[in-house]
Amino acid sequence: MLFPIVLAGGSGSRLWPLSRQLHPKQFLPLLGKSSMLQATIVRLKGLETAPPTIICNNEHRFLAAEQLRAAGVNDAKVLLEPVGRNTAPAIALAALALVKGNPNAVLLVLAADHVIDDEAAFRAAVENAARYAAQGKLVTFGIKPDMAHTGYGYIRAGKTLGPGACELDEFVEKPSKETAQSYLTEGNYTWNSGMFLFRADRYLEELKQWRPDILEACTQAMANPVPDLTFIRINEEAFRACPSESVDYAVMEKTGAGVVIEMDAGWSDIGSWSALWEKLDKDANGNACNGDVMLHNASNSLVRADHRLVALVGVENLIVVETKDAIMVAHKDHVEDVKVLVASIESDR
Ligand code: GDD
Ligand code: MG
Repeated sequence: MLFPIVLAGGSGSRLWPLSRQLHPKQFLPLLGKSSMLQATIVRLKGLETAPPTIICNNEHRFLAAEQLRAAGVNDAKVLLEPVGRNTAPAIALAALALVKGNPNAVLLVLAADHVIDDEAAFRAAVENAARYAAQGKLVTFGIKPDMAHTGYGYIRAGKTLGPGACELDEFVEKPSKETAQSYLTEGNYTWNSGMFLFRADRYLEELKQWRPDILEACTQAMANPVPDLTFIRINEEAFRACPSESVDYAVMEKTGAGVVIEMDAGWSDIGSWSALWEKLDKDANGNACNGDVMLHNASNSLVRADHRLVALVGVENLIVVETKDAIMVAHKDHVEDVKVLVASIESDR
């Protein structure tokens, strides 16, 4: 039995102006009718799992609860963070919540911003991973890279342990462009999918070894959790004092107990507008349009018009997003910088 933990507390700022503080991307139906969060939960059908735990910001509690209800999930718990402290603390809170009743509980940690085309292959990889997690390993899922993406973690595989399973030799989170390119050329690296499988007790042990400060703050924050129907509330003051760090830097780069399981499931992280463009249906000129859009000699662009007519003439490789209160135009090769823009908008206000 696996215990799904869904990390849904990111800000999704690279998908501004659609993704907003009050409505970040994991709650948006970016592809199809379901939100990214709903798709993440529905994808679990067919795996033997306990009810999922969703971890998100307190501000989004009703959005999360309503989306879970609409997806037919009535037994989920929603753990509420008063502030975001990145993924290492978020996973620690979930591990601490579960470990008391189930010391050997195996956590299936999932991001809420992934698209997976082949769900059977996803489930097969998780099933393959389960025996290593049960042995106390920290399992990651490796995706075959096709470009030198700098927004991902890179894993070098070591000794083969079984079909599609290797020891994790090296984990490098978000390397520079040159380093990522050298990994691609070397060929023995996969991308870290951002999904993990490990026992709650083993994660907490590793955290104790590498980041005792994070474990200490999370333990205090979880000392007297307040269950409130679906929601679990934690101690705000203690959690505010917790350092902010991702699981990749805090544990996965450092652990000696890593295992990587191959996953070939049509995986992608909808981390930016260009990643979304890749996944959307396009016309013969490579344009993905939504809403009232007119095009003349325009190609390979994503255009979204929520309130007004948007027209493009003689341009290519653009992202144009029109919402009620903001319009963004970006070159497809520079979409990673949208988060820089959002940071400066936030600091100006
Ligand atoms: N609860 C909670 N609290 N969730 C969070 C927080 C937080 O403070 N910060 C981020 N998340 C959630 C996001 O909503 C997302 O679902 C997931 O955790 C991963 O966070 P991202 O911010 O999207 O991470 P990333 O994409 O830059 O990098 C991670 O994923 C890559 C693959 O998609 C890393 O694990 C990389 O190594 C990996 O390659
Ligand atoms: Mg991501």
